[in-house]
Parts: sequence; structure tokens; C-alpha cells
Amino acid sequence: MNRVSIAGATGYTGIELLRLLVRHPSVRIVSLTAESHVGRNIAEVAPSLAGYLDHTLVPLDASIGQDCDILFLALPHTASMAHVPELLQGGCRIVDLSADYRLHDSQVYGEWYKTEHQNPELLKESVYGLPELHRSSIGSARLVANPGCYPTGVILAAAPLIQTGWGDADSIVADCKSGVSGAGRKLSQTTQFCEANEGVSAYGLAEHRHAPEIEQEISRLAARDITITFSPHLMPMTRGLLSTVYVNLKQEIDRDRLHEHYEAFYEKEPFVRVLPPGRFANTHFVAGSNFCDIGVQVDTRNRRAIITSAIDNLMKGASSQAVQNMNLMLGLEETVGLDTPPVFP
Ligand SMILES: NC(=O)c1ccc[n+]([C@@H]2O[C@H](COP(=O)([O-])OP(=O)(O)OC[C@H]3O[C@@H](n4cnc5c(N)ncnc54)[C@H](OP(=O)(O)O)[C@@H]3O)[C@@H](O)[C@H]2O)c1
Repeated sequence: MNRVSIAGATGYTGIELLRLLVRHPSVRIVSLTAESHVGRNIAEVAPSLAGYLDHTLVPLDASIGQDCDILFLALPHTASMAHVPELLQGGCRIVDLSADYRLHDSQVYGEWYKTEHQNPELLKESVYGLPELHRSSIGSARLVANPGCYPTGVILAAAPLIQTGWGDADSIVADCKSGVSGAGRKLSQTTQFCEANEGVSAYGLAEHRHAPEIEQEISRLAARDITITFSPHLMPMTRGLLSTVYVNLKQEIDRDRLHEHYEAFYEKEPFVRVLPPGRFANTHFVAGSNFCDIGVQVDTRNRRAIITSAIDNLMKGASSQAVQNMNLMLGLEETVGLDTPPVFP
């Protein structure tokens, strides 16, 4: 049995990790950490897990890294980086769900996160944990940076067009809608019921921190520096993330040809479902699963591809993708513990 621990087990992504890991056949859960809930039982803080776990929540310290094989960090960004070097020294391997090790350039991190990176040398070592693009490096990685929810949806939608050069990477516009759980369990004004319910709002336009992460991966695929337009919106739903990505085509391609291309690109991917021509992505049909559904269209009047992708922000956008990465790191079948169908209705 592989020993796993979670730092930040009481947040939304931590609880979602636990929901998956308690049924995973190849792991045993060792330690669960919290910040404000230290000393309480996990089932008190996450009543959905009552009967599955009986762990007392402990503070995060270096010893956690010594008694597990895989440690998930489900902490707020900037909280992870202070701990990672000493945790790695303990001998564990880490999947970090925060943004602290996703950007390979410490200067870009500093610009967007308004703080100096404390261990920039590890940014060179960390592997961006999007299995569809980095599978071979994830398997042997010591530190995997689990992608952000928006980047997962947008990169998977755009990659087949950018890698082939069919799409003009400079023209990418990503219009995205997220459920409120994307902001985490901590309290904030914008995520209160009365503020989020029955309204839709744009936020972070031209300055959301997921933009440089999307640009890093799209630039790698395009083999040059790319900037994109990324517009996130908050939707009055608990979970789900829909991305509509617009990309100008460099040549005439019709919808059916584009669809064939996407099907071929993701043919071997267990968790990407390319929808039949004429169907578009819907968050309802991926909820609670590790799937990313992708629907393609071409507006032939202006030669623009319109790609829709739907994920569950807490699953393929965070925790189930982290388990997919863990499976790769442990040399297990990639789908173990993740092959449950979505919850609908
Ligand atoms: N929510 C999403 O859809 C999503 C998607 C992708 C990535 N992420 C990323 O995943 C990470 C976790 O997100 P979340 O939504 O699960 O957050 P969350 O619900 O706010 O949970 C944060 C967790 O970290 C603990 N914590 C808070 N401050 C800490 C500190 N200074 N030191 C140690 N532990 C601390 C909290 O413990 P207490 O409860 O005891 O205070 C809680 O367990 C974030 O970096 C987020 O950006 C989230």
C-alpha cells in the first residue's frame, strides 16, 4: 500500500481528494493537516466523510514529509512554497494543488503573485501536471505542480489547434465561467450566497493569475512567446467550469475536419471526451468526474474555431487530476480510483 497524506485536508480540494482516496485500492491515508481546524476530527469538519475516516487534524510540519510516499498540498498559494523544500527532504514526493510551482520563471511568479519566490531553483525541477501534455515527465517527478482549473480547461481546448499550427496562437480568446467552489471554502464577500446567487459577473479581466500559466503552456506548444486574452466569470453554481475558446484558423478547415483532428489528438486519452459534431460542452455532464468534454465548431464566415470545454473545477480542475498524477507517479494504471461516471442530474 502506498502511504499518502494531505496538507490542507479541510478545504474543498482537500475534501474532494479524500472522497477519491478513501476508495482508492492502492493507497492508505496517513496524515491530514489543517490550519484553523487543528485538533478536530476530519469527519466533524467534513461530515460527508463520516464513517470513512477517523483522523485527527494535525498542524503542517516537516515530519509529515517523512511518513508518506505521496503528499498532496491543498493549501492557498504562497503557503506551499515555504514548506516544500523541507517536506521533500523527508523523502516524500509532492503533488502541489496551489500555484506555487506551476510557473517555471520566478520573475513571472513574482510579477503575478506579488511576492518573491522562496525557492526558485525548484521551479526548474517541478513538472506541470497536465497528463495529456506531460505524461512522461510526471511519472518520474519528485514535485508535480497540479494545474489551475481554468488553465486545464483552456489548454486542453486549444492544444490540438496550436500544436499543429492550424490555429493562430496570438488570436486566442478564452471566455470562461466557473462555479463558486473555485474560490475555496474560506469566507469572502463575493462568494456569499446573496452576492453570487442569481447573478453572473466578470472578474480579473486582463489580470487573472491563471493567464501566465495558460501562456506558459501555449507558448511551449507554439514554440514562441504568446499572450492570450482570458476573461473569467463567476457563475451561480457550486461546481463546474465551462471554457469557450476562440482561435483564428490559418487555413480553411470545416467543422467535421476539425472534429476528426480533435478525435485523433485525444484518441488515447482516458479522460478527454471529444463530443460528436454539433454538440457542445456542458458542465452538467462532467460533474463529479475526471472528464474534460470538448465540443468543436467553426464559424466559416470569419474562419474562426470555437472550442468549448467543460470540466468539474474540483475534479479535473484540481483533485481528480491530482490523483491522476499520483497514479502516474506511483506507476499505477492512470485511471485507478477515477473511473466513476459523472453525477447527473
Ligand atoms: N477550489 C478549486 O476549484 C481549486 C481548483 C484548482 C486549484 N485550487 C487550488 O488548490 C488550493 C486549495 O484550494 P481550496 O479551494 O481547497 O482552498 P480552501 O477551501 O480555502 O482550503 C484551504 C486549506 O488550507 C488550509 N490552510 C489555510 N491557510 C493555511 C496556511 N497558512 N498554512 C497551512 N494550511 C493552511 C485550510 O485549513 P483550515 O480549514 O483548518 O483553515 C484548508 O484546509 C489553492 O491553492 C487553490 O488555488 C483550487
